[in-house]
Amino acid sequence: MSKNKNNKPVWDSRIKQKGSTIFQKVGSSLDVDKRLFKQDIYASIAHVEMLERQKIISLSVKNKIIWGLKKILNEIIKKKFIFNESNEDIHMSVEKRLFEILGDDAGFVHTARSRNDQVLTDLKMWLKKSTYEIINELNKTIKLLIKSSEKNFDTIMPGFTHLKNAQPISLAHYFAAYIEMFSRDKKRFQNNLENLNENPLGVAALSGTSFNIDRFYTTKKLGFKKPTQNSIDTVADRDFVCDFLYSVSLCSIHMSRFSEEFIIWNSDIFNLINLNDKIVTGSSIMPQKKNPDALEYLRGKSGKSLGNLISMMTILKGLPLSYFKDLQDDKELVFNSYDHLVNCLKVLREILGNFAPNKKRMLELSKLGNITATDLADFIVKDLKYPFRKAYALTAKIVNLAEKKGKTITGLTLEEIKSVDKKINKDVLKAINIQNSVNSKKSYGGTSIDNVKKMIKKYKKEIND
Ligand code: ARG
Repeated sequence: MSKNKNNKPVWDSRIKQKGSTIFQKVGSSLDVDKRLFKQDIYASIAHVEMLERQKIISLSVKNKIIWGLKKILNEIIKKKFIFNESNEDIHMSVEKRLFEILGDDAGFVHTARSRNDQVLTDLKMWLKKSTYEIINELNKTIKLLIKSSEKNFDTIMPGFTHLKNAQPISLAHYFAAYIEMFSRDKKRFQNNLENLNENPLGVAALSGTSFNIDRFYTTKKLGFKKPTQNSIDTVADRDFVCDFLYSVSLCSIHMSRFSEEFIIWNSDIFNLINLNDKIVTGSSIMPQKKNPDALEYLRGKSGKSLGNLISMMTILKGLPLSYFKDLQDDKELVFNSYDHLVNCLKVLREILGNFAPNKKRMLELSKLGNITATDLADFIVKDLKYPFRKAYALTAKIVNLAEKKGKTITGLTLEEIKSVDKKINKDVLKAINIQNSVNSKKSYGGTSIDNVKKMIKKYKKEIND
């Protein structure tokens, strides 16, 4: 910290009075954005390389700056870097330190650049890296769901609509529904890469620069696909932040729906699954309790992700072009959503590895609520060639009859069923059997065990390709 004793902001030649202490404290984003130090330094290195290639700075200045930047990188990694709140953000902190190390030559680093394009470049680079990390986390989660499915092809349970028994399903088919949801999440994150691959560096404050810079060089060097096309839009744009926060939100919502479902299934009333001790917590007063806190954690955290998305959209809603301090909050929202999502996916995997379906209970519950009434109506359509609506009405009569007799339709005798329509033949008893019902759903995407096995094979192949 020797060469430069100047601890003043870079704008002290213009702004004479010392800034408000409270605003300096709360207005600083350093605590949040220091997480971007690597991206900031790599982007600065690419920038000065480009400046030298374009003959805007000399070779010796370029070499000095790159040497200084690498020294700073090392200091931060080794935790020897002193972060000083008065430097406002990671960009000013690095620049200030560069002055301490190099003296006045450090001043060349900010030629043809503004913090406005600098912060965007850093953030997009960080988001790209983190998007790949999330996709990786999703892949691991999908693999566990595949495993859960494979163990439960012939575990039959009630499928619900309105939380009322609707039609029987294979538990594997239920897990495959979540495979679909997390696969869509993956696609959503992947799609975001297209915008994230546009390089903001070089748009400077908002209007571009009069220096003969080469934005295509920094684009290639930093792993982007092309430079952004409009300098004003680039500085003002946070759509890619919203896209990310939205993708996180939907993925969190999927986890939250799963959690809510498992919480219900884990209740003493449903008792459809058992959670291992590894993922439950006890009560401070009720000695008998084993609470599904991990699931509640997932459900709760989805609220945070949604809040972050709404915060970002609210910040943008009334904001004229181009840069305003309001935008500084984007990073806190992004980091917060990212951290929650990754933690939640890890917790979800713990849950998937530590539960057991109560198969007996699942089958027992499947016998309630005349769950194969649709199969009965379908049988009548096929066997007696009646229109579906007529078969529906006859089936409703049979359900009413069963209810009157204190039974379900599977408990009725053939004679009792025939009392509604004497043309119904004995095969009806097979059609309303629960296992047969599941296996009859052979339509593409349906729950028959053969179908589900094929689908799981497909998911497995896709994820291992
Ligand atoms: N810390 C600032 C942010 O994250 C960097 C951009 C500052 N630009 C400015 N014109 N004040 O938004």
